[in-house]
Amino acid sequence: MADPSYDELIGQAKDHIWMSHAQFRDREDPTSLGIAMKGEGCYVIDHQGKRYLDATGGSHCCAVGHGRKEIAEAVYKQMLDLEFSGSGLVPFTNAPTAKLSKKLAQLTPGNLSRVFYTLSGSEAVEAALKIVRQYHAQGDNPKKYKVLYRNYSHHGYTWGAMSVSGDPAIRSPIFEPTIPMGVVVPEANPYRCLYCTGTCNLGCARSIEATIEYEDPDSIAAIIVEPIAKGAVVPPPEYWPMVREMCDRHNILLIADEVVTAFGRTGTWFGGDHWDLIPDLMVLGKTLGSGYQPIGAVVATDEVFERFLGDPDRTLIQSHTLGNHPVVSVAALTNLEIIERENLVERAAQMAPYFRSQLETLQEHSVVGDVRSIGLLAEVELVKDKGTKEPLGGKEVGRKLTRFMVDNGLYMRCGGEKLSIHPSLIITEEEINEMVSIFDKTLTYAEREFAKV
Ligand SMILES: Cc1ncc(COP(=O)(O)O)c(C=O)c1O
Repeated sequence: MADPSYDELIGQAKDHIWMSHAQFRDREDPTSLGIAMKGEGCYVIDHQGKRYLDATGGSHCCAVGHGRKEIAEAVYKQMLDLEFSGSGLVPFTNAPTAKLSKKLAQLTPGNLSRVFYTLSGSEAVEAALKIVRQYHAQGDNPKKYKVLYRNYSHHGYTWGAMSVSGDPAIRSPIFEPTIPMGVVVPEANPYRCLYCTGTCNLGCARSIEATIEYEDPDSIAAIIVEPIAKGAVVPPPEYWPMVREMCDRHNILLIADEVVTAFGRTGTWFGGDHWDLIPDLMVLGKTLGSGYQPIGAVVATDEVFERFLGDPDRTLIQSHTLGNHPVVSVAALTNLEIIERENLVERAAQMAPYFRSQLETLQEHSVVGDVRSIGLLAEVELVKDKGTKEPLGGKEVGRKLTRFMVDNGLYMRCGGEKLSIHPSLIITEEEINEMVSIFDKTLTYAEREFAKV
């Protein structure tokens, strides 16, 4: 059977794929949905051979760049050897998963050393929430069930992950009631701080302590946090030591969601490394497989894991049939080997000042409220007015800005309020220049079309 033409393919996609984040409903508009055919380094190439500079690192995933033959070959070889080995019902694991687990135990800080595998970040968050509940149920304080989460945080779209996410893009009244475990606390966002104007008074951290007291420490099982929120929101230096100390004092497990920030994104192996933050559970996803295979994981400390040993009834009650997958593990292992061999973590740290300095030039636009970055993670907040900080627009503005950027050769989306930028860790200075010049044009267009006059 002959391959379908591009028009046929786009028709099939528009008629039958239920995409997330947008409707792509207009069958007649050929520009509203593209078909990516190939990836090379920091570029994605479409059916007509047009090249797009990937400013999103394939949705935060692609640390090592697109088109790595080494990963493809490792996956191919593993598929020929053994495509799957089961996930625990039979008493077998497989070699790539054993090697990957040792590698993760070596890379992660402190005594995080025991890895539970899933196929996505959201599933890893789900698993972490269940580990927390069972951990306390089998310990001294079985009444602990609440999970603190921060406003505007994003931990995934599944029901449990949604129940502990503060991102309004995830939460909708349609899904209420959510699972009754989540208790919201404020984010630590210097640009939109609720507590201080000017000098930081650490009100955001103190309000967590106040919430713990109000809710009753004996009811709180865990707090889930992104060490650096994915909008490149960096808390004040005292913040993480204070939160870690509160958790220790109240027997609250600290879950660090490093789905976005792990493996060099912020210029260190893990986002929490900037403060020597050692969590009790670390959640991984995205960059763990660089998008070459779907993978998520929870890494637990020895102390947490030991609570699940002894009587067979203490065994963790959580499983994913396709977890511990040898093909997925070999892709992740090869990805981590490339990150290590090519010193991509150090490279991200070295490239960070140049990346920042180029993005800073966008401040000149009247629609830019804030430019934040750490490592190769950045966010440009778009506002109608720099003084009031009113967001520039919603989904419709976002759709138009997205179209403008794509037409100008950027692999990128915008929801209307911000540009979230996280290229592959191999990006060069020339590619940063190209990317920033397209943002510059886009912001000129935004000023003309959407800003207050
Ligand atoms: C911080 C964070 N945690 C969890 C998730 C969920 O990961 P996934 O989309 O792989 O389920 C995301 C997704 O964007 C994320 O940004």
